[in-house]
Amino acid sequence: MKIITGNWKMNGSVAELEIMINAMQSINTKNKVIICVPFTMLGKKSDKISIGAQDVSSHENGAYTGEVSAKMLMDANAEYVIVGHSERRQYHSETNDTVKQKAKCAIESGLIPIICIGETMEEKQAGKTMKIIESGLRESIPADVKADVIVAYEPRWAIGADLTPTIDEISKTHTFIANILENMGLTGTPILYGASVNGSNAAEIMSIPNVDGVLVGGASLKPDNFLPIIESV
Ligand code: PGA
Repeated sequence: MKIITGNWKMNGSVAELEIMINAMQSINTKNKVIICVPFTMLGKKSDKISIGAQDVSSHENGAYTGEVSAKMLMDANAEYVIVGHSERRQYHSETNDTVKQKAKCAIESGLIPIICIGETMEEKQAGKTMKIIESGLRESIPADVKADVIVAYEPRWAIGADLTPTIDEISKTHTFIANILENMGLTGTPILYGASVNGSNAAEIMSIPNVDGVLVGGASLKPDNFLPIIESV
């Protein structure tokens, strides 16, 4: 069983989500399928797809205009939430500390956070990939809160870039991540790979040890692109 997660980012509509949910009825898979949609598309329920959000407030409730709390996401039938996506880190200056707080709020309300980490091209070129990954894991995961979490490794330079690391690179980073998680007492935490996953590379990427699934952006928007990824494993 693999975890195939779509991240719709700021794309789609309620009608398009309905099309995806209907298209999913035709496939027979043992894989777990999650789609993380913009807040306005939450509220849907499907027996084949779990719905997630893409962000959550780091506050429980109160005077935070425009923010959406973990409890509200639960109330809108979300089961998962992406936290610390690189676009939130880049455009909204989210730090590991903020991400940890958000993940904590998610867990305390019963959501499963999908915690994203990954290095920029600059960090990669400076040979800092493993250092960034390790601090990302240790500082973003609220390991004191014993609950299910999912980790997504997304090399930031490969997102939406039609570019993926080599199989060997993915293998090395995922093994490294699994070791750190074990050291943190989080053995068995699913580790997703994300960045430029599509129908042609999904099966090979998911055959790598310690790759428990994928987080798919662009190729998750249309059933024609997303379903082949789900059916590839
Ligand atoms: P991509 O995005 O698949 O379009 O590269 C992945 C992500 O940002 O989660």
